[in-house]
Amino acid sequence: MWRDLTPIGRNTTTNGYRRYAWTEADADCREWFRAQTETRGLTYEVDRNGNQWAWLGDPTAGDAVVTGSHLDSVPDGGAFDGPLGVVSSFAALDELRARGARPTKPLAIVNFGDEEGARFGLACVGSRLTSGRLSVERAHELRGADGLSLPQAMERAGYDPDAIGPDPERLARIGAFVELHIEQGRALADTADPVGVASAIWPHGRWRFDFHGEANHAGTTRIEDRRDPMLTYANTVLAARKKARIAGALATFGKVSVEPNGVNAIASLVRGWLDSRAADEETLAAVVGEIERAAVERGRRDGVDVRVTRESFTPVVEFAHDLRDRLSGLLGGVPVLPTGAGHDAGILSASAPTAMLFVRNPTGVSHSPAETAGEDDCLAGVAALAEVLEGLACH
Ligand code: GLV
Ligand code: MN
Ligand code: MN
Ligand code: MN
Repeated sequence: MWRDLTPIGRNTTTNGYRRYAWTEADADCREWFRAQTETRGLTYEVDRNGNQWAWLGDPTAGDAVVTGSHLDSVPDGGAFDGPLGVVSSFAALDELRARGARPTKPLAIVNFGDEEGARFGLACVGSRLTSGRLSVERAHELRGADGLSLPQAMERAGYDPDAIGPDPERLARIGAFVELHIEQGRALADTADPVGVASAIWPHGRWRFDFHGEANHAGTTRIEDRRDPMLTYANTVLAARKKARIAGALATFGKVSVEPNGVNAIASLVRGWLDSRAADEETLAAVVGEIERAAVERGRRDGVDVRVTRESFTPVVEFAHDLRDRLSGLLGGVPVLPTGAGHDAGILSASAPTAMLFVRNPTGVSHSPAETAGEDDCLAGVAALAEVLEGLACH
């Protein structure tokens, strides 16, 4: 499975993956998923929001045990974030069948669409639409750099954009959802355990900072006459780091766009996207508020107008305690850890009992081509997931 999947959407210069929602690379990943489903004689479904499902047992019976993750990537992402969960799900199902396990509940593997939000700016689009956390109106407003809206991109990829929307009937079929994922930090790296269980996801969000200045000639405009938004932006990046460090939170400007983007012109507009996360919502709100205040204050000095738009916010997720404890028990008491990364499991947790398994990442690096996991650890992840699926679906 890994051999067939890894060439798809890989940028050969960077070795990173560019599997953005509803592109050709994404279509190839989806075709891979469909083929895995067919090979195993599972029932294949694509739901109204473009998420793919592979069912063992009756999809409509209810109380299903669902596992899976996503196949899309961040710009130049690693091979494991997302795909490890999907590949492990098929492998765990194979393991259950090889053991002759007899599920008494339907089992499903899911590939949620557009988890990373690399193309339209909002993460977990597939699970948000399904759960009603993203409205159809807002989905129509989401636009990528090529100018296409999300529904337009879906239509070009052969999906019916008029079908998108909440899917309570599908959600109601889920008795439990377990997502296996590569760990995106180093909590397991220094332990003897290749697998851990998630306790919570930090609240997180994305804010767009628009710095409006005045375009002018780089060679003739006196320093004191400039209204340079790049300057305000640069100071805001520094302020973000400082405020986050003091609060024990995280703040990242990882994406920026500049107009008119000429070497010999002072910029007229700088847009920077802030990703911020913290252990609790109060701290997160306080940190983002402080960064915004620092930006506005600096903008006043620079003659730059600063406007901040919250593009998304995901509240803290506390995974279902009984399911988490059950998993930890089934796996013989593995470490339980929180994470700062968002996941479809976090979105689904409002609708169904949800849990996550993390597979050790020796360097902790993620959202980068350097992301890696050892083969033995990946196999331990598959074994753990098989154990969990058997425990949840066969008894
Ligand atoms: C998803 O990977 C996120 O946390 O940004
Ligand atoms: Mn990710
Ligand atoms: Mn992921
Ligand atoms: Mn000139």
